[in-house]
Amino acid sequence: MILVTGGAGFIGANFVLDWLAQSDEPVVNLDKLTYAGNLENLASLADDARHVFVKGDMGDKALVAGLLATHQPRAVINFAAESHVDRSIHGPEDFIQTNIVGTFGLLEAVKAHWMAMENGAKAAFRLLHVSTDEVYGSLGLGDAAFTETHRYEPNSPYSASKAASDHLVRAYHHTYGLPVLTTNCSNNYGPCHFPEKLIPLMIVNALAGKPLPVYGDGQQIRDWLYVKDHCSAIRRVLDAGKPGEVYNIGGWNEKPNIDIVHTVCALLDELRPKADAGSYSAQIAYVTDRPGHDRRYAIDASKIERDLGWKPAETFDTGIRKTVAWYLANPDWVANVQSGAYRAWTTRQYGGALGSQQEVAA
Ligand code: NAD
Ligand code: DAU
Repeated sequence: MILVTGGAGFIGANFVLDWLAQSDEPVVNLDKLTYAGNLENLASLADDARHVFVKGDMGDKALVAGLLATHQPRAVINFAAESHVDRSIHGPEDFIQTNIVGTFGLLEAVKAHWMAMENGAKAAFRLLHVSTDEVYGSLGLGDAAFTETHRYEPNSPYSASKAASDHLVRAYHHTYGLPVLTTNCSNNYGPCHFPEKLIPLMIVNALAGKPLPVYGDGQQIRDWLYVKDHCSAIRRVLDAGKPGEVYNIGGWNEKPNIDIVHTVCALLDELRPKADAGSYSAQIAYVTDRPGHDRRYAIDASKIERDLGWKPAETFDTGIRKTVAWYLANPDWVANVQSGAYRAWTTRQYGGALGSQQEVAA
């Protein structure tokens, strides 16, 4: 049994789906169901007894303590977070509360549980904290990619709050011996990505005939990894990572934003041609830049490749094609997210009965 937090979000849901596709080890999924949590992502697990969904806050120590005592997981994987940089600029408070205070609550509950475990289970237990390359700040064009020892220089309220959570996780290992693993991953893309982030926003806006808003000059560089490859890396770190260690995850796949947008448009031109045979790229609109916009991220993935033998399965060409195809094949998912109907999905699925701390096989 493993306990996952934030498993109704983009990466967490992909992780839960992949986990249960590859093993019968059950998952307890603790998610607060913020705007970013969407149980429709997990609809294929309806009536699957291996998945136990719990609506609640990872910072609720009593709730987490109860779940740990009841289910006795061998590992906790922490995906839960506020994750969108632009939202953190407009309203940082939720980011401080969730990413810092929430992680603290989770750590306290996990530490208390772990300290009381019997020796065998205690030695095998792991807390894996999922973090981001943004904690390292911004690179110049000629700078070497981020290694695990790169100085922390977070620039947005989001990345600062994630950096704080990483430091707390590190401190609980150093001070209390809690067997933690931290992963810092580059930008993910793939199915179930909420359309506030660059790639899904470009797909849904293009299809809706809306402008494709490119911040600033569009030359900012991100390092893209298909979400399923992030999930396989997390499974590998959980299996073989050394407690107390940090692993950077990435696929050596740096691209300027404007190239990403043109790639998405070209795929849509091929897979869903416009009636007038024009290109979706005509919808590109340069808009005001993000304040404090980091210029370049790049992950040096040598450590996880060398020490744990992990490699991504997808290239950017195969991953982005799968991603665009997924959005074209799932118009209902997109429509429900855009209309807000996905939030009512929980009520439809559970008859309005799903309250805080309630547990259901989802
Ligand atoms: P997301 O915003 O799609 O999902 C976050 C999930 O956490 C949601 O289901 C939400 O309901 C849940 N949540 C929020 N606050 C919670 C709380 N207090 N208790 C329980 N659940 C809560 O995020 P994502 O893109 O899937 O990112 C998952 C993790 O991976 C985050 O920690 C993020 O920082 C990290 N990360 C993301 C990327 C990326 O490109 N998306 C890259 C590297 C690392
Ligand atoms: O690097 C990992 C991080 O990647 C994660 O930790 C974050 O949770 C995740 O949201 C992502 O952060 P970014 O800020 O890099 O992702 P986003 O999709 O918001 O933006 C990607 C780039 O595209 C960034 O340079 C800003 C730009 N952008 C974004 C949007 C939403 C635009 O040009 N236009 C847009 O409309």
